[in-house]
Amino acid sequence: MKKVITYGTFDMLHKGHINLLRRAKDLGDYLIVGVTSESYDRERGKLNVHDSLLERVESVRNTGLVDEIIIEEYFGQKIDDIQKYNIDIFAIGSDWTGKFNYLKEYCEVVYLPRTKGISSTQLRNDMQKMCNIGIVGCGRIANRFIPESKFVSGVNVSGVFNPHMDSAKSFADRHSLEFASDNYSDFLSHIDAVYVASPHLSHYEYAKQALENGKHVLCEKPMTLTPLSTADLYQTAKDNGLVLLEAIKTAYCPGFTHLISLVKSGAIGTIKDVDATFTKLVDSDVRELSAVAGGGSMSELASYVLLPIIKTMGTDYKSIDFHPVCNESVDIFTRGLIAYPNGTASFKVGLGVKSEGQLIISGTKGYAYVPAPWWKTDYFELRFENISDTKKYFYRFEGDGLRYELERFVTMIDKKDTVTYQLSPQDSIEIATIINYFREKMNAN
Ligand code: CTP
Repeated sequence: MKKVITYGTFDMLHKGHINLLRRAKDLGDYLIVGVTSESYDRERGKLNVHDSLLERVESVRNTGLVDEIIIEEYFGQKIDDIQKYNIDIFAIGSDWTGKFNYLKEYCEVVYLPRTKGISSTQLRNDMQKMCNIGIVGCGRIANRFIPESKFVSGVNVSGVFNPHMDSAKSFADRHSLEFASDNYSDFLSHIDAVYVASPHLSHYEYAKQALENGKHVLCEKPMTLTPLSTADLYQTAKDNGLVLLEAIKTAYCPGFTHLISLVKSGAIGTIKDVDATFTKLVDSDVRELSAVAGGGSMSELASYVLLPIIKTMGTDYKSIDFHPVCNESVDIFTRGLIAYPNGTASFKVGLGVKSEGQLIISGTKGYAYVPAPWWKTDYFELRFENISDTKKYFYRFEGDGLRYELERFVTMIDKKDTVTYQLSPQDSIEIATIINYFREKMNAN
């Protein structure tokens, strides 16, 4: 019996896929199809796949051309599969010509003619309404957002708002945007969604007005510095059926998402402690160190370290202690300790003190170790008492990583989902609660 194998995402199954499967089937007697898993697709940079893995497997099965379906989960799996299933022929579309010649060592490699004029990308683009995004603010993060947006389909960054027209104009010129504005209402009337990347004390007003005008909002972290205002924004989004998302990039990247799923599934036993550190030295004259601009290590960086803590330990803590180290205006470093009824968590954040930026999640059977910079998760290990049981996990973290939050944002808009498990409204509100509690204690002293 001649066995043939082929692989693909098979998103929004189309004529090209069916032709390819028929041609592959004709090469032998038994056809195996490897459908890519969601995490593998994201890892290899294929964002915005429309159908879920289950839907894609079902559509491939329903073609009636396939004898067996497997899931492709990791880079290098093809060699393993070819040997495991005793494959005679590896077949793939001609757009891949030459790319799989390394498999010739294991079986015959056949490049089949690709059907012209159709692809999943094209179908996704036809179906997805282009989302016009406007940016509020012209700072460093806004500048990084534009090149990142090019990696996400269905998005067009069309304009920028800044109260100073000169800044808005030069930003628009630099990035070839369609328009620049210093009038917020007018700016909102030209777009579908807003990316708020202004100094954080202004987030609330910009986000609120955008939501009240029917615009979806992706808001830089910290969304606001109080739980009341963050909750108010989520309520406004809910009342208007809009997406509101806090742009903590780590929350949406493939490595971190998988880490959280693994440890929550019991891979290291019951989680009892989390220790996260994020420090970033800044110049002494920047906004981040200004008290009037709401700066300081906690307000700037706590969103990151609180993310793995809240995601794994939850929010039913008994107490929080802060140990800040301050200059004349803000905390340049803060160590925090959170006591849970049955566990602990600790964190360090610093704008004026440098430390090792690692994340350790400890459980009753083992621990997860994520080396610096853990907030750009591309690697972690699960370690156990027996050192030979260590498991290593590798991921891609592309570019500045802002593409992951943007991809999640437009997918939510597209699918009319207003809540994502990766960072729920409650998670954002809890982060604001802890930052606010810290700021109240600082002001009281
Ligand atoms: N394929 C084909 N003809 C097309 C589209 C795809 O023969 N018009 C083949 C690919 O060469 C591959 C298989 O179908 O062997 C699965 O490809 P996949 O990447 O899932 O499909 P695309 O439509 O190319 O997807 P995308 O646009 O997301 O890259």
